[in-house]
Formats: sequence, C-alpha cells, structure tokens
Amino acid sequence: MDDFPSMQARCVDAIKRRALRLLHHTARGQRLILTMYLWAEEGTEGALLNEIIRQTDLPWVLGQVQRHTADEARHATLLRRRLAELGARSVGPARVDVVSRWKLQRLQALCQARAGRFSAGRIVPVFALAFRMEVMGVRVMARHVSVMEQLEVKPVETAAMLNVILADEQKHVIACEAALHRLVRDDEKMALEELCAEIDNVDRTLGITGAAVLWVTGAVLVVAESVRKMLPQAMLKLRSPR
Ligand SMILES: [Fe+2]
Ligand SMILES: [Fe+2]
Repeated sequence: MDDFPSMQARCVDAIKRRALRLLHHTARGQRLILTMYLWAEEGTEGALLNEIIRQTDLPWVLGQVQRHTADEARHATLLRRRLAELGARSVGPARVDVVSRWKLQRLQALCQARAGRFSAGRIVPVFALAFRMEVMGVRVMARHVSVMEQLEVKPVETAAMLNVILADEQKHVIACEAALHRLVRDDEKMALEELCAEIDNVDRTLGITGAAVLWVTGAVLVVAESVRKMLPQAMLKLRSPR
C-alpha cells in the first residue's frame, strides 16, 4: 500500500495537470503560470544562490554558483520575453504569497538548526535547500511540458522555451547534488539524507490546497473569458430594434 506522501504527490500531480489544462484555455491563465515561474526564478532561487555565496569562499563553489546564477537570469529573461509576447504589459518584481513565505521561514529555520551537523557548516543545508528546490522545479516544468504535449492547440513557443529551461534545471539538480557530495563527509551522508527528507516534508505542506487553488483560478479565468466574449453580443441584441 502507498504511504501518505506518495498518495499526496499523485493527488497534487493529477489536480495540477487539470489546472494547467484549464489555465491554457486563456491568455491570462498562461500569463499567470509563467509569472509564477518568473517570480520563483527571480525570488526564491536568486536568494538561495546569494546565500550560498555568502557562506563560502571555496573557488569551485563560487564558480558553480556563478554559472548557475547566469542560467537563472537567462531563464528570467526568456520568461519575461514570452510574457510580453502573450500580452503582459509589465511584470513587477518577485512577490511571495503568504503560504510560500511561511514555508521559506520554516526552511530557513531548518537550515539554521541543522548547520551544526555538518563540518562544512551552514553552506550544506543551504545547498541542500537549493538542490530540493531544483528537483521541485524539474518536476513542475516536466509536468507542464507533458501537459502541453497533450493539448489540442499546442502552445509551441511556450513549450520550446520551457524545454530550454527544463534542460538547464536538470543540469542544476545534478550540479547541486554533486556539490553536496563534495561538501559532506561520508559520516554526514545520513544527516544529509534526513535533511533532504525534512525539506521535502515542509515543501509538501498544503500541497493539495495549493493545487486546488490553482485549478479554481484556472476555472474562474475560463468563465470570465466566456463572459467577456458573450457580453458584446448580448449588448448588441439589447440595443437592436425588435
Ligand atoms: Fe531556473
Ligand atoms: Fe535552476
């Protein structure tokens, strides 16, 4: 029998797939989802990479993080360009919703609490957090790409862009994991595994609720778009003489 986290993951995945299909029915829906990705790139991921830089002066870590930062900046540029093509007037700086802010605070506290378990110090939990966020990013983008492949009207440009970003995120997962294995001693590997499980646990909090909110948002946007299309015809009928 499946454990609760696997059941929850399957449930979240199924709801989010339906939500993505709905969001692709409207330009506003597509812009919403790409804006969420943009804010993740410019907000959470950027902050984590800066935190890693603050924790070390190891040249190989700094070089890796520099390349990683350049990739994330390129992703943000690609997303902003696509958003403009989809009719977004301008997208402001990254915003963090209440739940994500709460999760980030819990994750920061976890990093602080677990730093003493590793001889390399706080850089390990911060890198572990970046690693798990990259894994989550790959899961999110891969799901979106696979949903787009099944749509009747394929959003070709968005799919091409997301495939480019996805390929980079897959490389980030590998690079973060390799860096962690270099930073962590053999006798600390178990502590690292436990920490990654704890991070995933926090990340899963309210997962089904978040997925449901996304689905409802997609549905509301579809209804709003139908009403917007129907209104001019209804007004014309009202005005025309009988
Ligand atoms: Fe990225
Ligand atoms: Fe990334």
